[in-house]
Amino acid sequence: MKFLVTGGCGFIGSNYLHYVTKKYPNDYFVCLDALTYAGNYNNIKDLENMDNFKFVYGDITNKEMLDDLFKKEKFDYIINFAAESHVDNSIKNPFVFADTNIKGTLALMDTARKYGIRRFHQISTDEVYGDLPLDRKDLKFTEHNPLITSSPYSSSKAAADLFVMAYYRTFSLPVTISRCSNNYGPYQFPEKLIPVVISKALRNEKIPVYGNGLNVRDWVHVMDHAIGVDMVVRNGRDGEIYNLGGNSEKTNIEVVKTILKEMGKSEDLITFVKDRPGHDLRYAIDSSKAFNELGWSPTHDFKEGIKETVKWYLNNQEWIDNILSGEYQKDNDKVKISIVV
Ligand code: NAD
Ligand code: DAU
Repeated sequence: MKFLVTGGCGFIGSNYLHYVTKKYPNDYFVCLDALTYAGNYNNIKDLENMDNFKFVYGDITNKEMLDDLFKKEKFDYIINFAAESHVDNSIKNPFVFADTNIKGTLALMDTARKYGIRRFHQISTDEVYGDLPLDRKDLKFTEHNPLITSSPYSSSKAAADLFVMAYYRTFSLPVTISRCSNNYGPYQFPEKLIPVVISKALRNEKIPVYGNGLNVRDWVHVMDHAIGVDMVVRNGRDGEIYNLGGNSEKTNIEVVKTILKEMGKSEDLITFVKDRPGHDLRYAIDSSKAFNELGWSPTHDFKEGIKETVKWYLNNQEWIDNILSGEYQKDNDKVKISIVV
């Protein structure tokens, strides 16, 4: 089977690719990535020599390029990880979120319709459900929750999900969607909470905690997410949405303090800063559908997972340094010149 994996040079896509290329030596994986600021070719460089892997530099909004690529490769599956993924950026510049997250998804699905595929899988997020109150621990998002978004990011992801379901209903495109909670693990770009805390603590810099630090996120290890996506793609039912959560709700301040303790750093580094506009209070996911239908549940315990994650960043300081210095973009530029469709 031939898989197109978009956004595979980012955090979750690269972890997924490391997992599936080894697990399925007889399947073939093409990674399509525009290498935006969030894409890092170094995340997948070690897959370069595998027989079942190929990288293609390109933008999912470019329909002509997609046409050429699909004509050449005849994909069975498309897994769309490519997105603008950072909420803070969406508040500063919403437009690129509409382009990549909505128009890019549409361009992929249109091309998939034209050439025919077994399945289009959309990587979505729990943020499409908006947020939950802090004082109602009994409430969790199920797949039936209405889409009530807060940020331009979550709105663009919700819009994409609606288009995906419309392509299923109207054009019978075989689709699935997975909606996951906050991921943590190796290769996360140091703009998101956990790598921000680790990289700043390493440099003894102030750690910005938005508002009062009491907002809650449900943390899932990125490898549990990768395994869940693989299960949905291979065994999920057409036209269905699957929630994937970590069963691990933590306040932001708890997460920050856990990391500082693990690194042997002082809590004096914590600085409370102005809150994120529209800041979602709490996310919590009910993944019972994925468990009942596919047998998926998260296997990583947060306490162990975060220890392992801190260790990974400490052992791979060059990876963070390369990003903070901008050096990784030089590596990306070399690939942009040499690898095109
Ligand atoms: P990321 O920002 O780390 O990576 C995004 C990747 O997409 C990068 O490699 C980037 O170069 C690529 N990309 C961006 N625009 C592109 C375009 N126009 N064409 C081709 N490639 C493009 O993101 P991530 O955290 O790995 O998230 C991956 C997906 O998972 C996203 O769809 C996101 O909405 C979703 N998601 C993320 C989380 C999380 O906690 N990070 C949780 C749930 C869902
Ligand atoms: O829930 C899934 C979503 O999780 C994904 O869809 C998004 O792509 C992903 O970015 C993530 O969104 P969040 O906004 O929850 O993640 P972020 O790491 O930006 O922030 C986590 C929490 O920490 C949030 O409440 C804001 C807070 N925060 C974040 C940063 C970067 C801080 O307090 N300080 C910070 O410096």
